Amino acid sequence: MEVKGKSVLITGGAGFIGSHLADEALLRGAKRVVLLDNLVNGRMSNIEHLMKRSEIEFIKGDVCDFDLVKKLVANADIILHEAASKLVFSRDRPRLDMETNIIGTFNILEAAKGTDKRIVHASTGSVLGSSISGEMREDHPHNPTTPYGISKGSAERYCQFYYREFGVRVTILRYFHVFGPRQPHDGEAGVVSIFIGKVLQGQPPLIFGNGEQVRCFTYVLDDVAANFLMLAHDETIGHIYNCASRTRMPIKKLAEMVCAKYGPATPLVYGEARPGEMLRPIPDTSKIEALGFRESVTFEQGLEKTHEWVKGVLNAGSAK
Ligand SMILES: NC(=O)c1ccc[n+]([C@@H]2O[C@H](COP(=O)([O-])OP(=O)(O)OC[C@H]3O[C@@H](n4cnc5c(N)ncnc54)[C@H](O)[C@@H]3O)[C@@H](O)[C@H]2O)c1
Repeated sequence: MEVKGKSVLITGGAGFIGSHLADEALLRGAKRVVLLDNLVNGRMSNIEHLMKRSEIEFIKGDVCDFDLVKKLVANADIILHEAASKLVFSRDRPRLDMETNIIGTFNILEAAKGTDKRIVHASTGSVLGSSISGEMREDHPHNPTTPYGISKGSAERYCQFYYREFGVRVTILRYFHVFGPRQPHDGEAGVVSIFIGKVLQGQPPLIFGNGEQVRCFTYVLDDVAANFLMLAHDETIGHIYNCASRTRMPIKKLAEMVCAKYGPATPLVYGEARPGEMLRPIPDTSKIEALGFRESVTFEQGLEKTHEWVKGVLNAGSAK
């Protein structure tokens, strides 16, 4: 589906990925872009630059509010469903995680039932857990190790059910370790920004566990492009796509690289491994690559763009 002239609803639109999706929807000529976010984790600063645009409407609201979701979905042609409770909070707040990730997704699907709305649902490699050997294809069994992996896995199942039973036009796009500007350096998640933030402030990055856990870091604009690739291909409806770069990097190597590039060289600091942390969540990405997906920004380029952004945030903070 062409985005030009269409109305786009982005749930979680003030978040890291959602705000970049909003930029791209405008670039592609969307007629209207509605950003739904309860700001539990999103930041108005992510979308401040968009608020003067006549096509943009920000709604502070909850994806669990079915009446609101029903109204917003009715007025949209395309729904990019990003709103979710985060992995790092899911052990401490499993109910919030379950409600946001399952009921929120259920609401979108239920509101789209009987319509031709086009949905891309943001899922995660956390539904799969770690690979024992080799790369995991889309049909690899779910083996979640966190409440987040369980709730996002259930959301995938709802998407598949609503597609099969009611013909809801939804594609499931699984991200793996997205990074880039607007991922907070002072949050609980987003190790690239966090390490850069620490090092720029003269502190050592803190590694949970032995640092051997591998991540396939993917630059945010490549995940954004993948959403629009899904929209452009109707044959993706009803299917799951793993979306990740070909980077495979142990956390320890990331820490060393960030220190070498941006730091005073500090000794690495290790903390206790986080419960449920996946050691090798490595996907097979041949399915999305067959559609034309390619990493457009190398890891080093993405790292530098993230560094510039974190530096800007820190400078703005210290200027206040
Ligand atoms: N960042 C990653 O590495 C990554 C990896 C895999 C999957 N994902 C998925 O991508 C999506 C976007 O993640 P992100 O990294 O941009 O995180 P984010 O936290 O920056 O964005 C999520 C947004 O959803 C909002 N939100 C949370 N609960 C809500 C609710 N009940 N109602 C309305 N808004 C709500 C938050 O305020 C936030 O702005 C999520 O679905 C996440 O599960 C992200």
